[in-house]
Amino acid sequence: AKTQLGINVVDKGNHRHFMLKEIYEQPDALSHTVSHYVDLAKGKVKLPADLPFDFAKLNRLTISACGTAYYAGLVAKYWFEKYARLPVEVDVASEFRYREPPMDKDGLALFISQSGETADTLAALRYCKAQGQHIASIVNAQESTIARESDIVFPILCGPEISVASTKATTAQMSVLASLAIAAGRQRGTISEAEEFELVDMLAKLPGAITKALASEKKIDQISHELSKASDVLYLGRGSLFPIALEGALKLKEITYIHAEGYASGELKHGPIALIDETLPVVVVAPSDPLFDKTISNMHEVAARGGKIILITDEAGAKSAGDDVHEIIIVPNAHAFVMPIICAIPVQLLAYYTAVFMGTDVDQPRNLAKSVTVE
Ligand code: G6P
Repeated sequence: AKTQLGINVVDKGNHRHFMLKEIYEQPDALSHTVSHYVDLAKGKVKLPADLPFDFAKLNRLTISACGTAYYAGLVAKYWFEKYARLPVEVDVASEFRYREPPMDKDGLALFISQSGETADTLAALRYCKAQGQHIASIVNAQESTIARESDIVFPILCGPEISVASTKATTAQMSVLASLAIAAGRQRGTISEAEEFELVDMLAKLPGAITKALASEKKIDQISHELSKASDVLYLGRGSLFPIALEGALKLKEITYIHAEGYASGELKHGPIALIDETLPVVVVAPSDPLFDKTISNMHEVAARGGKIILITDEAGAKSAGDDVHEIIIVPNAHAFVMPIICAIPVQLLAYYTAVFMGTDVDQPRNLAKSVTVE
């Protein structure tokens, strides 16, 4: 759409909210992002020629961010540790900046921010610069302060994001982080060329998988009616899906104002199990990966106490989940590497439809700001 002056403005198109529009833009946005970072014909990640550091020489990667971007960083920790055998520290920027942690010279500090203007993330960046770190950032706003103060910027290229609750920027951030983890693995010699080819191929297939994940929209809309009656919701996940459980809980509380908490599945018996009764929906994010059996046993513990399980899983997971499950949301089959990005879709939709059903202001939730430029 254009204004009378012919200037492009962002509008909702045929969607009721920016959030839904941005959720639906994800296949295109990710296709754009992934093709910027990988050479599909060669099956390789493309790194900028002027990369100011060498992954092979790093002893540590330090990631700081806030909100949803922090959860993208938590997912990245699993990727960098598994595929590049690189130790990773991730912290919320507001803690990191005041902790003033000791840092070895020449480490890599990475900042993730949609806006590139978040005050705490910027302060963490300046601290790391003073500590002699290489400064890299993953941003959407390439003209932002965080981008300007970085030695290297990895843009996420997903277009403007208007909804306060981040959706396409989050999955685009994760796609960039996944590409960088592959590149780090190659430079550090921890993945072979054939493995790089396979991982790149999984990224190339992401847009199609996201489109399939969006097809569960109707089922999720129906589940959301029940979710809207809850006063608390628990989200569980394991491994790289644990941050997606955190993200699901954040999204739900941000736009529906229902209290929600994300937990690592294995922590269930160390606290949250005390909350479980028939009024507590438990969203379990668990595709059929090598840790699936462990999560099934967590689900039994929830069901035995009357908790209502909403399971987000693939077809194989749905078949072996048993009778304990109240509702199942199916995501397409894919390798565990890309599952956090795919499983982000149903948790976004679940929060969105619950908010719409409850009639809250989806795009402008109370008390929240899109960009937090003061402490
Ligand atoms: C605010 C927004 C969140 C966002 C966070 C970090 O709290 O409401 O959606 O994740 O800031 O923002 P950034 O622009 O740094 O990604």
